[in-house]
Amino acid sequence: MYQVKDLDWTDSYDTIVVGIGAADTIDEGLDALYNGRVKSLIQSADISTKTGELSIVPTFEGTVKRILFVGLGQRNENTTENVRNWFGKVAKEIKARAFTDVAIALETFESNGALFAEAYEMATYEHPTYKSAPKDSAAEVTITLLGNVDQTEVEKGAARGRGVNVARKLTMMPANILTAEALADYAVELAERHGFNHRIVEKEEMEGLGMGALLAVNQGSKLPPKLIVLEYNGAGEEAPIAVVGKGVTFDTGGYSIKPKDGIVGMKGDMGGAATVIGLFETLATTKPAVNVLGVIPATDNMISGDAFKPDDVITAMNGKTIEVLNTDAEGRLVLADAVTFAKTYDPQAIIDVATLTGGVLVALGTDVTGCLTNDDALYGALEEASRETNELVWQMPYFDVFINKVRKSEVADLNNSPGRFGHMIFGGAFVGEFVGDTPWLHLDIAGTSERPAANELGPKGPTGVMVRTLSTLLDGWNR
Ligand code: BES
Ligand code: ZN
Ligand code: ZN
Repeated sequence: MYQVKDLDWTDSYDTIVVGIGAADTIDEGLDALYNGRVKSLIQSADISTKTGELSIVPTFEGTVKRILFVGLGQRNENTTENVRNWFGKVAKEIKARAFTDVAIALETFESNGALFAEAYEMATYEHPTYKSAPKDSAAEVTITLLGNVDQTEVEKGAARGRGVNVARKLTMMPANILTAEALADYAVELAERHGFNHRIVEKEEMEGLGMGALLAVNQGSKLPPKLIVLEYNGAGEEAPIAVVGKGVTFDTGGYSIKPKDGIVGMKGDMGGAATVIGLFETLATTKPAVNVLGVIPATDNMISGDAFKPDDVITAMNGKTIEVLNTDAEGRLVLADAVTFAKTYDPQAIIDVATLTGGVLVALGTDVTGCLTNDDALYGALEEASRETNELVWQMPYFDVFINKVRKSEVADLNNSPGRFGHMIFGGAFVGEFVGDTPWLHLDIAGTSERPAANELGPKGPTGVMVRTLSTLLDGWNR
């Protein structure tokens, strides 16, 4: 779909996309397409140079039918984030108008083909639906990236966008369709398509391994849990980086049941798992020089005569006992055993990704992912990657006062819910009890996994957050 060529204003395309700044000297080749009238078209406001404004102006004759101008305002004020957003806007416009032959004059944006491809994939994505009348499928489009463009980098950018879309699609799927088993099937299919090692740990095996925390959460369910394991190998025998994603396919809260308005939307409680699977989709193309272990504890959190209850004491895979004070704090329980399982691979680092707490929404809102870490250098690398992708992160304090409260119980080693105040941190600190000394990042995406409104880069709803940031982090891994 993407092809690469040098910019030549005399080549013929249906549509060329051109960035135009307020103080630009107009290129002669461009001007020639309008018989020397670009200046006057700007003066008459038919071509806007205002930041982020699109103008589509036909040429009426010549080799190019029309130019889609993107206003760049003052060029020196532009950031990668701006350009990515404008590319998203352009992508939506191409789709809405069903343009099929489009060239992008990248030099006029002082940008690169990878960024365009990433934005194009994300912005043209639509959530699949189950409506009985199918939508018309979109027209096939050829996009020519003009300039000194590296085709391999373009494919990597597109792969980051596709990874995001895989995560979005999975997160959107309802829990009657996306069961733990269906999630496992999806992961296995993806792994086989890309030649990744994979393994599904079944319920009986979990019992043998002593995964009492994951099994407790699954206890009320009619459906068996699955522990999904994916392996990307890009560095021979080196220790892997473990990426662990919460895969609660539906969270009722269990006996600590959620209020009726709080239950709606809980099909998205496997957003962390979706991020891990989307990341693996991306890794198949970006091929970073690291090994990556993906671990997903998948189950729903249901109520029945068999369900676990508040006051229950359960034993996790590492032998630690847990007093269950709240069955709605189930994410940290499934992560506990998944992290212990990941540690059997001797990982060099552990990154967990989870829609873990409403607390992070209260603290940081819907645009910032809350983090805990035991390793400042690793957090620094995450922050740097997140600045590149514009997926914002913020570090929360991982102080002993929080850890001590997680360890406070009269009957067990730990409790799963020390209280309301600061509960985003308690959630992370609980997971930290299973991580130990391994360098660790905890990413609470409960606020960022879904977006309350559409933006330039995608629809309302699931965002596939952290796929691009983790991909970028792994690309630049050097420790
Ligand atoms: N899945 C929820 C967190 C959540 C809330 C995700 C809102 C997305 C949107 C999690 O399992 C949960 O219920 N957390 C509780 C923790 C509490 C019981 C300590 C919460 O946030 O209230
Ligand atoms: Zn819950
Ligand atoms: Zn949950």
